[in-house]
Amino acid sequence: MSHYRHLDVRKLTPTIGAEVHGIDLREEPRGEVLDELTRALHDNLVIFFRDQEVTFEQHMRVGRLFGNLQQHPIARARHPVHPELLVVHADENSKVVAGEDWHSDITCDVAPPMASMLHLKVVPPVGGDTMWASMYAALDALSPSMQAYLETLTAVHDGGKPYIGHYKAKVPEGGFPRSEHPVVTVHPATGRKVLFVNKGFTTHIKGMRRPESDALLDFLFHHIESPKFNCRFRWRANSIAFWDNRCTQHYAIFDYFPQVRTGHRVTISGAPPVSARSGTVESVARPLDVMAA
Ligand code: SIN
Repeated sequence: MSHYRHLDVRKLTPTIGAEVHGIDLREEPRGEVLDELTRALHDNLVIFFRDQEVTFEQHMRVGRLFGNLQQHPIARARHPVHPELLVVHADENSKVVAGEDWHSDITCDVAPPMASMLHLKVVPPVGGDTMWASMYAALDALSPSMQAYLETLTAVHDGGKPYIGHYKAKVPEGGFPRSEHPVVTVHPATGRKVLFVNKGFTTHIKGMRRPESDALLDFLFHHIESPKFNCRFRWRANSIAFWDNRCTQHYAIFDYFPQVRTGHRVTISGAPPVSARSGTVESVARPLDVMAA
C-alpha cells in the first residue's frame, strides 16, 4: 500500500480508481505533490478530483505537467479557441455521445495518448456515470496459456471504426489513422503487462482469418467488462477524472437523455507501446491492408 504525505488518496476498489483529496488544481502542483499525483495515477490507473473550478488554462496547464497536449482527430470535436480541448457535450439534441462503449483513447495512432483528463462543468441530476476497467487485471485473470498465446499476436486499430461507424465523421484527406500494436504491451512506468485491444478501435488480429479474429476479439471485449476489473464514477459539477490510457479502458454511460452533460478533456501525448513479446516497439502506422481473409 502506497503512502502519501501530501495527498489524501481514497481507493474506490482494490483494483482500480481512487479519489484524491487535499489538492487544488487551480494551483500548479510541483515537486513532491506532483510526484505523489503521478504515483497515485500509477497505483490506481484512474484518479478523481472533486470541486475543482479550473479554467481552461488551468486545466491545460495541469495536463501539460504530464506531457504535450494533442488535438483530437475529429476537428469539429475541438474547442474553437483552444484546439487542445476536446468538447464533451450532450443535450436534448444528442443522438450519440463520445465514448459510449468500452475503449481506450485514440489507439489508432501509432503513439496513442498516455493519459486523458476530463473536467465536467454541468452534469445531469442522475446518470452520466463513467466506468473504467483495468487492463492489467483483465490480462492477469486469463490462463497462462492464453496470456502466452496473446503475447504472440498483433492487432490492427483503425480510426475509421469509431469515427465513421459511430460518429459519422467526414473522412479527412489521407483517411483516419490506422496502426498495428501488440496485443499484450508493457506499461513503461510500472513494467506490468497490459491487454491492449479495445472494442472502440481494434478491428482485427493480423494474420488470422476473419471468423477466428472476430471470435477471439469478441471473447476479449466481453472479458474486460467483468465488474471485477471495473470501477464506476458518479460525477458532480467540477469533478475531474484523470486516467492512464495505457492500461485502462473506459465507457461513458449515456442514460441521461435529454439532460445536459458538458465539459472538456485534454489528451496527453504518449509513445508507441512496447511489446511484451520482444520488449521493443513493434507498432507501425498505416500498414498495407492486412484485413483478415
Ligand atoms: C471519453 O473521453 O471517452 C468521454 C468520457 C466521459 O464522457 O465520461
